[in-house]
Amino acid sequence: MLGSRIIVGVTGGIAAYKAAALCSQLVKRGAEVRVVMTEAATRFITPLTFQSITKHPVAVDTFDEHDPSVIQHIHLADWADVFVVAPATADVIAKAACGLADDMLTTTLLATRAPVIVAPAMNVHMLANPIVQENIRRLRERGFVFVDPGEGPLACGYTGKGRLAEPDEIVEVVAAVLQRKKDLEGKRVLVTAGATREPFDPVRVLSNRSTGKMGYAVAEAARDRGAEVTLIAGPGELPVPPGVQLVRVETALEMLNAVLDCLPSADILIKAAAVSDYRPASVSPSKVKKSDGPLVVELVRNPDILLEVAKRRRHDQVIVGFAAETDDVERHAREKLEKKSLDYIVANDVSKPGAGFGSDTNVVTIFGRDGTVLSLPPMAKRQVAERLLDLVAGAGRVGAVGGP
Ligand code: CTP
Repeated sequence: MLGSRIIVGVTGGIAAYKAAALCSQLVKRGAEVRVVMTEAATRFITPLTFQSITKHPVAVDTFDEHDPSVIQHIHLADWADVFVVAPATADVIAKAACGLADDMLTTTLLATRAPVIVAPAMNVHMLANPIVQENIRRLRERGFVFVDPGEGPLACGYTGKGRLAEPDEIVEVVAAVLQRKKDLEGKRVLVTAGATREPFDPVRVLSNRSTGKMGYAVAEAARDRGAEVTLIAGPGELPVPPGVQLVRVETALEMLNAVLDCLPSADILIKAAAVSDYRPASVSPSKVKKSDGPLVVELVRNPDILLEVAKRRRHDQVIVGFAAETDDVERHAREKLEKKSLDYIVANDVSKPGAGFGSDTNVVTIFGRDGTVLSLPPMAKRQVAERLLDLVAGAGRVGAVGGP
């Protein structure tokens, strides 16, 4: 940890006193530690304690701008290699999950791009409250690392889950996060996400149920592992991960052009988009009016983007496809792996609970051209993205699987 820059955010719970031991251990291991406290935390333990341990002033007030050359919360946010919130109350977890920033701690937290570790501590019933659990789940999906609270007697008199994890345990998690590999540093990753939308007239489109969550999770995970990421996405409302370059497209043909434009400079292409296989043969310039009797719309085939990629790809590029299936998943996925000259295919049965469109989780099996078969249990899409990137970046090579 020597020289690592760590922010410890302390919030107002009785476990705030344990944050002093945490800071002391981090300092002993060679880290540079800055403490940010909420007002409530200062009711439990004084800033002077942390100042004495870390040998740096403690930030509590957002408007206490003692150095006019910097904006303190942005400066701190940029400075950090990792941000640990310990103890984290239900309140700070809720604020983080909603993106609220109404004090020094939450503004710094919202501004940082460093990995965030959260060690909750609260009453057993507060922790079990579905609202708190929902907030934790949302943050986990965004890549926040949680150090689960322990079980035992709590300050409120209850016995159960809710005690702040021991400082040693939190220190180990900090060490692990600091050592997390930047194994895609210097790599250019191209990700496609979401549904394409094929116009039929000025008001109607042909599309599918994909929301883009899987592709966005891949883009965010690749960014966190050091890659330069371009995300080519169909229409949608999902927030674009900061630092990721977005190319917005609407139709399959637009997506094809964007992919082919970006392909030459990409090391890795991950094609999570659900591309419309067909589009209306002609687009009416004015709204089609209803009439008695059925309406027949002629559809024509869209190009298969991955087949076009297969014709142009270099041998040092890694190409990953997705297969959304409802039956005979393995056979269909293996056929697509072969036909589209992919290095890996991520197969999911979109009819299964916890998998597929709109869900925050996915249940996938990844098949590799090199014989890899990785069946993953249900997990957050972000975690699926991490496991996929482990494979893509793994074994010290990108592109060793070979081209067509
Ligand atoms: N794909 C593509 N271009 C298309 C259709 C699909 O590049 N016109 C890509 C998807 O992005 C995905 C993979 O091919 O990575 C598989 O997509 P999927 O919809 O599962 O399969 P299709 O090839 O369209 O086959 P089918 O719809 O018959 O299952």
